Amino acid sequence: MNLASIQAAENKLLLHTYDRTPCLFVSGHGVYLRDEDGNDYLDLLSGIGVSALGYAHPAVEEAIRRQSTRLLHTSNLFFHEHTADLALRLTEMSGLDRVFLCNSGTEAWEAALKLARANAGRLRANGRTIGTKFLALEHSFHGRTMGSVATTHKEKYREPFAPVMPNVEFVRFNDVDDLRTKFSNEVCAICIEAVQGEGGIHPLTQEFIAAARQLCDSTGALLLADEIQCGMGRTGKWFAYQHYGIQPDVTALAKPIANGIPMGAMLCTNDAALAITPGMHGTTFGGGPLACAVAITVIDTMKRENMLAHVNEVGEFFRAQLHALAARHECIVDVRGLGLMLGLELNSVELAKQVAAQMMDRRIILNRTSETVLRFLPPYILEREHVETAISALDEILKVSAAFAGAASAGEQSHG
Ligand SMILES: Cc1ncc(COP(=O)(O)O)c(C=O)c1O
Repeated sequence: MNLASIQAAENKLLLHTYDRTPCLFVSGHGVYLRDEDGNDYLDLLSGIGVSALGYAHPAVEEAIRRQSTRLLHTSNLFFHEHTADLALRLTEMSGLDRVFLCNSGTEAWEAALKLARANAGRLRANGRTIGTKFLALEHSFHGRTMGSVATTHKEKYREPFAPVMPNVEFVRFNDVDDLRTKFSNEVCAICIEAVQGEGGIHPLTQEFIAAARQLCDSTGALLLADEIQCGMGRTGKWFAYQHYGIQPDVTALAKPIANGIPMGAMLCTNDAALAITPGMHGTTFGGGPLACAVAITVIDTMKRENMLAHVNEVGEFFRAQLHALAARHECIVDVRGLGLMLGLELNSVELAKQVAAQMMDRRIILNRTSETVLRFLPPYILEREHVETAISALDEILKVSAAFAGAASAGEQSHG
């Protein structure tokens, strides 16, 4: 099958949830994806923040090979040899106490939401006054299932499925006064992303996170940190909230945790965990032997290869290069992000679309989020030379587009 026949078949057979770029990838190596004609693409998106160790990493391949010949599935009715080892690593890295393993980001976030409701129920049973409302943030994204979508800000994701889970209120991003005004004993949790991803690569302020922590402490509400995109080393620390020196009660992980084998995790404090007893929550596939074995390998490889330092170093270089680019091009209105989670905001939707498409023509993959933001979530193994390639391509594209815009406006003036 080639691209054209696959496209035709998908058009007939698949639910139309994505407008795919017409490109058929058949393999990958390092930071490159290879298409059916043998062309290599520099991948600055890593499958939306998933393939952190890049493609065909020998340690990941070996972990999959080894585990696939031993055991793929047990269900959570039995023990297997990797769950506790993975949980130990995750709790040590996060400063949290307990782990629930699942299969995706949205499932991890659902677990967090359910835990917050159950925790409030437990507190009420102990005589505390606490309600069932969630405060989420404007421009948030937490996933596509009913609870996740209810805490996701963009209306286009929620409205077609209304009524979604009620009792969610949105707080203006980084607006401490709005947070304080909307917080009350009715709230069972405040939902944050320390760095918003889909929302356009926006870090929260120290002041906002500190206020959220303090408000939760005042009532027993839980601080839920969605680290599905910004966690697991993406920002140069294991968890983005660690940049702020503030511990959430609950965090949700997914994307890079098993480098492409589907996996999610919800981590919480011992205290919050008291709200869950056997039978209240579960999953058939979650935390299976294959995903756990690979996740352990990903974490151990990241530690062995000192990957957080590398993310910081290459991320700093990338950011500095983006700032230098911004100094040369008026159409760049902002550069944001931490580590290898970076955004370049342009001054028009049309330009952002064109630049993303032209980068793809040059076989460099990035994507556009929040209309005008070019988003970079490259593999952690990215090197400076890859950054230089991307920056010079961006520079050339923006120069040509500025020259075109200049010529067009000169044409308009001479006609007028
Ligand atoms: C911050 C955040 N939360 C949740 C999700 C949902 O994760 P998944 O697509 O694995 O369900 C995403 C996905 O992009 C995300 O970026």
